[in-house]
Amino acid sequence: MSTQPIKNVEYGLEKIFEGAQDFLPLLGTDYVEFYVGNAKQSAHFYKTAFGFQSFAYAGLETGLKDRTSYVLKQDKIKLVLTTALTSDSVIGEHVKKHGDGVKVIAIWVDDATKSYEETTKRGAKSFMKPTVEKDEHGEVVRSGIYTYGETVHIFVERKNYKGTFLPGFKPWVSDYNPSAVGLKFIDHMVGNVGWNEMNPTVKWYEDVMGFVNFLTFDDKQITTEYSALMSKVMSNGNGRIKFPINEPAEGKKKSQIEEYIDFYEGAGVQHLALATDDIIKTVSELKARGVEFLPPPPQAYYDDIPRRLGTHMSVMKEDIKKLQELSILVDADEEGYLLQIFTKPVEDRPTLFYEIIQRMGAKGFGAGNFKALFESIEREQALRGTL
Ligand code: FE2
Repeated sequence: MSTQPIKNVEYGLEKIFEGAQDFLPLLGTDYVEFYVGNAKQSAHFYKTAFGFQSFAYAGLETGLKDRTSYVLKQDKIKLVLTTALTSDSVIGEHVKKHGDGVKVIAIWVDDATKSYEETTKRGAKSFMKPTVEKDEHGEVVRSGIYTYGETVHIFVERKNYKGTFLPGFKPWVSDYNPSAVGLKFIDHMVGNVGWNEMNPTVKWYEDVMGFVNFLTFDDKQITTEYSALMSKVMSNGNGRIKFPINEPAEGKKKSQIEEYIDFYEGAGVQHLALATDDIIKTVSELKARGVEFLPPPPQAYYDDIPRRLGTHMSVMKEDIKKLQELSILVDADEEGYLLQIFTKPVEDRPTLFYEIIQRMGAKGFGAGNFKALFESIEREQALRGTL
């Protein structure tokens, strides 16, 4: 298996991936919706700790009887936090089984009806038939299909809509507005699937969504003394949407992916990687606001950075001491370097966490950091008694 990116990668250009299909043109990520136990308190957390801004709201005051949703925004990132208001709710059932987690990865498209037809024709299981929603600001068409586990993709066509978020939502104006921390857009979103499910999931993204597999990491590359995993990175044709898919691999002890699957009770979203163009500032701010990150790798990791960065060292702007102080990781590929850091899980079950990433030309996912990162995760697993 190869770790080399295919050669014609130029993010930002249309049709960059050879072999990517154009039956499903995707414009980008629209929003990510979480089903949670208490949306009001989750919203407070994402505002206070992560610097998200109040954006839109739907609930009893807007005529809903069964649910409440808070929409938060930071630059291009939109998170929707939804909770059930009654016991007989599919949202409540989802939370009971999985805990707080991602239900919807919504994708911005030009034609939600065609997106639905093309994907269901190719074998996708329907979640929501094309549905037109209207208000005084215009109309939005949405449709949806299931992906891994109970997670779904919703296609959002909003070219005829001028409102804040979606019909049915009102702008959310709050007196409490903590400042943003510099998070810009979603760089990638990772799915964890069970044993032997990675390849079928990869094939599903190829066949149903027209994605290409542009990077592969096997269990020889992603391994520590104790546990292992395998990962394949899927991308749509224009490179704006990237979904790495992980599955556990055999090791002496329990893979972190298996721990996730056990606690999430199935496949689901493992982490969202949020991009910043000043990771030192963003991470300093997040730490000051109480976001917990994985502990730093040992001194030797930082001593080794000049060797690992090679020629990129001459263009590196960041001070290694400062990176170490904040436990930020550094990796490089042929095209540049990247800086990244991972939070601890953001809920009580060891499931969803966040990555903060700053790309300085590198197109990879920090493969050179995997060992240091996984050893750090394993130390946390050991504390939880789940290694
Ligand atoms: Fe990542």
